[in-house]
Amino acid sequence: MTTPAEIAARHTALDVESFTHVQRLLGTWGILADLSFSDLLVLAEVRGSGGSHMVVLGQVRPSTAATVLRADLVGQMIAVEDWPLAGESLASGELLSAIASLPVHVPGSALATEGGGDLVADLSETGEIPAVPPEASIECVPVRSGGDLVAVMVRVGAIGQTRRPGRLERVYRDLYQRLASMVASGTFPFPGEELATEDAPRVGDGLMVVDSEGRLTFASPNAVNALHRSGVNTALEGHRLAELGAESSAVDHALATGRPVIEEVERRSDAIMLLHCTPLIEDSSVTGAMVLVRDVTDLRRLDRLLLSKDAAIREVHHRVKNNLQTISALLRLQARRLDSVEGRLALREAERRVRSIAVVHEILSREPGDQVPFQQIVELLLRMAEDSVPPGVEVVFRMVGDAGEVSADIATPLSVVLAELLQNAVEHAFAIGIGTENEPPLAGSVELSMHNDGVRLSVSICDDGRGLPEGFDIDQTDSLGLSIVRDLVTSQLYGTITMRSGRIPAAPPEEPRGVSADLERSGTCVEIDIPVSMEDLG
Ligand SMILES: Nc1ncnc2c1ncn2[C@@H]1O[C@H](COP(=O)(O)OP(=O)(O)OP(=O)(O)O)[C@@H](O)[C@H]1O
Ligand SMILES: [Mg+2]
Repeated sequence: MTTPAEIAARHTALDVESFTHVQRLLGTWGILADLSFSDLLVLAEVRGSGGSHMVVLGQVRPSTAATVLRADLVGQMIAVEDWPLAGESLASGELLSAIASLPVHVPGSALATEGGGDLVADLSETGEIPAVPPEASIECVPVRSGGDLVAVMVRVGAIGQTRRPGRLERVYRDLYQRLASMVASGTFPFPGEELATEDAPRVGDGLMVVDSEGRLTFASPNAVNALHRSGVNTALEGHRLAELGAESSAVDHALATGRPVIEEVERRSDAIMLLHCTPLIEDSSVTGAMVLVRDVTDLRRLDRLLLSKDAAIREVHHRVKNNLQTISALLRLQARRLDSVEGRLALREAERRVRSIAVVHEILSREPGDQVPFQQIVELLLRMAEDSVPPGVEVVFRMVGDAGEVSADIATPLSVVLAELLQNAVEHAFAIGIGTENEPPLAGSVELSMHNDGVRLSVSICDDGRGLPEGFDIDQTDSLGLSIVRDLVTSQLYGTITMRSGRIPAAPPEEPRGVSADLERSGTCVEIDIPVSMEDLG
């Protein structure tokens, strides 16, 4: 998909300011399409074409009427000789209208039509809307920004309407004309107006028109409903909104300043209205305003519910983390009371394992959601490993790459695995033999590197310590730590693990203190590869 910004940058000479204006128009023109019951296109001159070609930057369909332009013309090049009215409007800056055809020539595409050519005829036989109508009621509105002509807006409407339009339709079309003149004079869209949000009201939600005094001259049926819901029951027209009890500063403010105003009005707790007031400007004076109103009560209720659900999930993770920390504290206390060294060590290991799970819940309590920013967990795990380095040993931890985000299901077993491997590096690569004469404590570094491409996560933990014992094989070992690691990686993370002796390839560390240079130090590398996206899990 190509965005208007990409098309503009590639094919037009619009500067940033002009394009921002066009983009602002594209952000609010759904309202214009609805009010005019027509399809709208915006075209700008193609750079270097000497005014012979235009490119379609945007297209919008009305939600109040059937579209007459089935084709998606965004990005199409249009020769000015094919759409002379648009070309003239863009060149002269005049608002022009006529009944005309809109031939589109796209080489090699089914879109190629010649004044409503074969394709159009074929399609109309099957009863479908033609890709481009053979003839339509066309109006070209020059788009001005800061005095410059930057684009042309083309309204494409159905022709052949014979019945007399009803009041609503007349009001809407009149509003469209007032706004179209503002587009042509550069007062609409309003410079600096923030782009419409997703919940911005549209014409169908409810529309009111007020005169320059703020007196209601028209309210669409949906607007009347919305006002009723917020407690306004009197007959509406001819009154100011404030007299009706719907005191809203938005309308007054828009009329006074000539700037659009968006306001959320909560008159009763069970009715929240979003008002979007657009002042109507003619010859630099405000002649009234269009007020779009949307009942957002249900939307806001949902927002609040979602917020409180998020808070609840966070709270649960927070409590789980606290409970795990309590368990690890209990294990620590119990370990202190044991006389047997072996028992004490075992309890301490258990305590550490519980803590490595607690860190996952700590992160989840900060950022709820299915995806966990694993990098934050890694940082806590590295800190835990650093804290476990015994005095007299120096180990530098390095992190390379970024773990990215993983699902909560992966985060828990993965952090137990990493904690285990980091601990092994501390215990076996460097710290072993502390205090014995023949094996002085070592110093060195551990490098944890992670790479997550959204499909697979690869992890390697390499140290430059003592290396694995002779004949060691991770698939054969029955020691607890690596058995846990192996089982978690293969059966819970559906991944693979390899473990080998070998130095860290990059960045050999400086010669550690207290070790002679010729000491045999091969180091150890563990490599893990796991799928992180559901598709890859099959
Ligand atoms: N980074 C490493 N450098 C050198 N040897 C290692 C390294 N990691 C593991 N080993 C060797 O692998 C053995 C098995 O490790 P494992 O983690 O399974 O058990 P452990 O650490 O001895 O006990 P625990 O169950 O408390 O983790 C270790 O005893 C050690 O000899
Ligand atoms: Mg271990």
